[in-house]
Amino acid sequence: PVVYVKAGHLFDATSDNLRDNVVLTVEGERITKIVPAAEVSIPAGAKVVDLSQDWVLPGLIDCHVHLESRADEYNPINEVRMTPFKGAFNGVVNAKATLMAGFTSVRDVGSQPFFAVDLRNAINSGLIPGPRVVASGPPISITGGHGDMNGFAPAVSNWMYPAEKDFQIADGPDEVRRVVREQVKYGVDVIKILATGGVLSAGDKPGAEQFTYEELKVAADEAHRAGRKIAAHAHGTQGIKDAVRAGIDSIEHGSLIDDEGIQLMKEHGTYLDADIYNDDYILQEAPKFGLPQEMVDKEKSVGRLQRENFAKAVKAGVKITFGTDAGVYPHGDNAKQFHYMVKFGMTPAGAIHAATSSAADLIDRSKDVGTLEAGKYADLIAVTSNPLDKIETLEHVSFVMKGGKVYKDEVGAEKQ
Ligand code: ARG
Repeated sequence: PVVYVKAGHLFDATSDNLRDNVVLTVEGERITKIVPAAEVSIPAGAKVVDLSQDWVLPGLIDCHVHLESRADEYNPINEVRMTPFKGAFNGVVNAKATLMAGFTSVRDVGSQPFFAVDLRNAINSGLIPGPRVVASGPPISITGGHGDMNGFAPAVSNWMYPAEKDFQIADGPDEVRRVVREQVKYGVDVIKILATGGVLSAGDKPGAEQFTYEELKVAADEAHRAGRKIAAHAHGTQGIKDAVRAGIDSIEHGSLIDDEGIQLMKEHGTYLDADIYNDDYILQEAPKFGLPQEMVDKEKSVGRLQRENFAKAVKAGVKITFGTDAGVYPHGDNAKQFHYMVKFGMTPAGAIHAATSSAADLIDRSKDVGTLEAGKYADLIAVTSNPLDKIETLEHVSFVMKGGKVYKDEVGAEKQ
């Protein structure tokens, strides 16, 4: 059966323009045609989704989430209380919140081994509702780095999390190569590596390099050999450049990037995936549930600079995607980042491309998602006012369809 989706205003993300009064025909999971409304005669009794008063866009894509994490527990001490079961319950709830916010695809860039892989499979098999998940394994870290358990007695940290040693911690090119291969073996879609220190980790510095250029190069080559993309967490100036030169596909955070780093990203076509909403939540909310002062101080050292440097990168023409680090702040609030992307230099259409067409390119799913065209998945959302006039409109998505199935319909669009 064909579903006729009437769109009053369509932003299909193949350009910056809106098209008025079109009809998308959906058969099964995919779009089969998009035509001017005047040219279709909808057969009597056909299934219609009437969004003729609304603005219709491709389902949004967040390229940086952690679906197992809860914002109100995002405190490293809680990692020692985290069981895989707890993470899984969180993931079920977070996946649904993400989908209901209009994000029909996400890239999960770090969780316990191999949570995101299982969550992806559970969603794909129809067991639970959620976005399409492009899954990484645990983020690969040096010993003592952003992904290690720091600040505990040796006996405690060795005993606590044995899998960490096998699947996450790597020192030297050979171990990096082995860990990438292990992760591929257990079904990840993407590799996440921690090139520099971080904010929400004990005992390291966001600006400091962690993996060497040689290690990053091995990771990138090995990921690419396996047909996977690779993302690097990198706040620090030098670590960003090493990661870009090593052939990493996206720089996460990018906080302390300098002009040379910006030029390198342009030359290599590397995406910047900067979580520029995060700072608000970390400074305003996280201290209320006990985020250690060390981390609040680290946030203050990067947060504002990250936004200014993001603006420079946008101005210079670096390729930008939408990645928020949801899990540090509550899942479902992802779209709050659009406001900052526009405030710091993007056009509304540009910010939407970052979360649709460009994001699809980064996650290597352009043939399926990211634009609304015949042949793509019927992943689409609707809002009741024009997001090109006011980007914050996307914080209130009233309709969500994923793969031709309606998950949210606050406007009564679905007619029988
Ligand atoms: N996961 C990141 C880290 O711990 C969060 C950084 C958040 N701060 C920011 N300004 N984006 O390093």
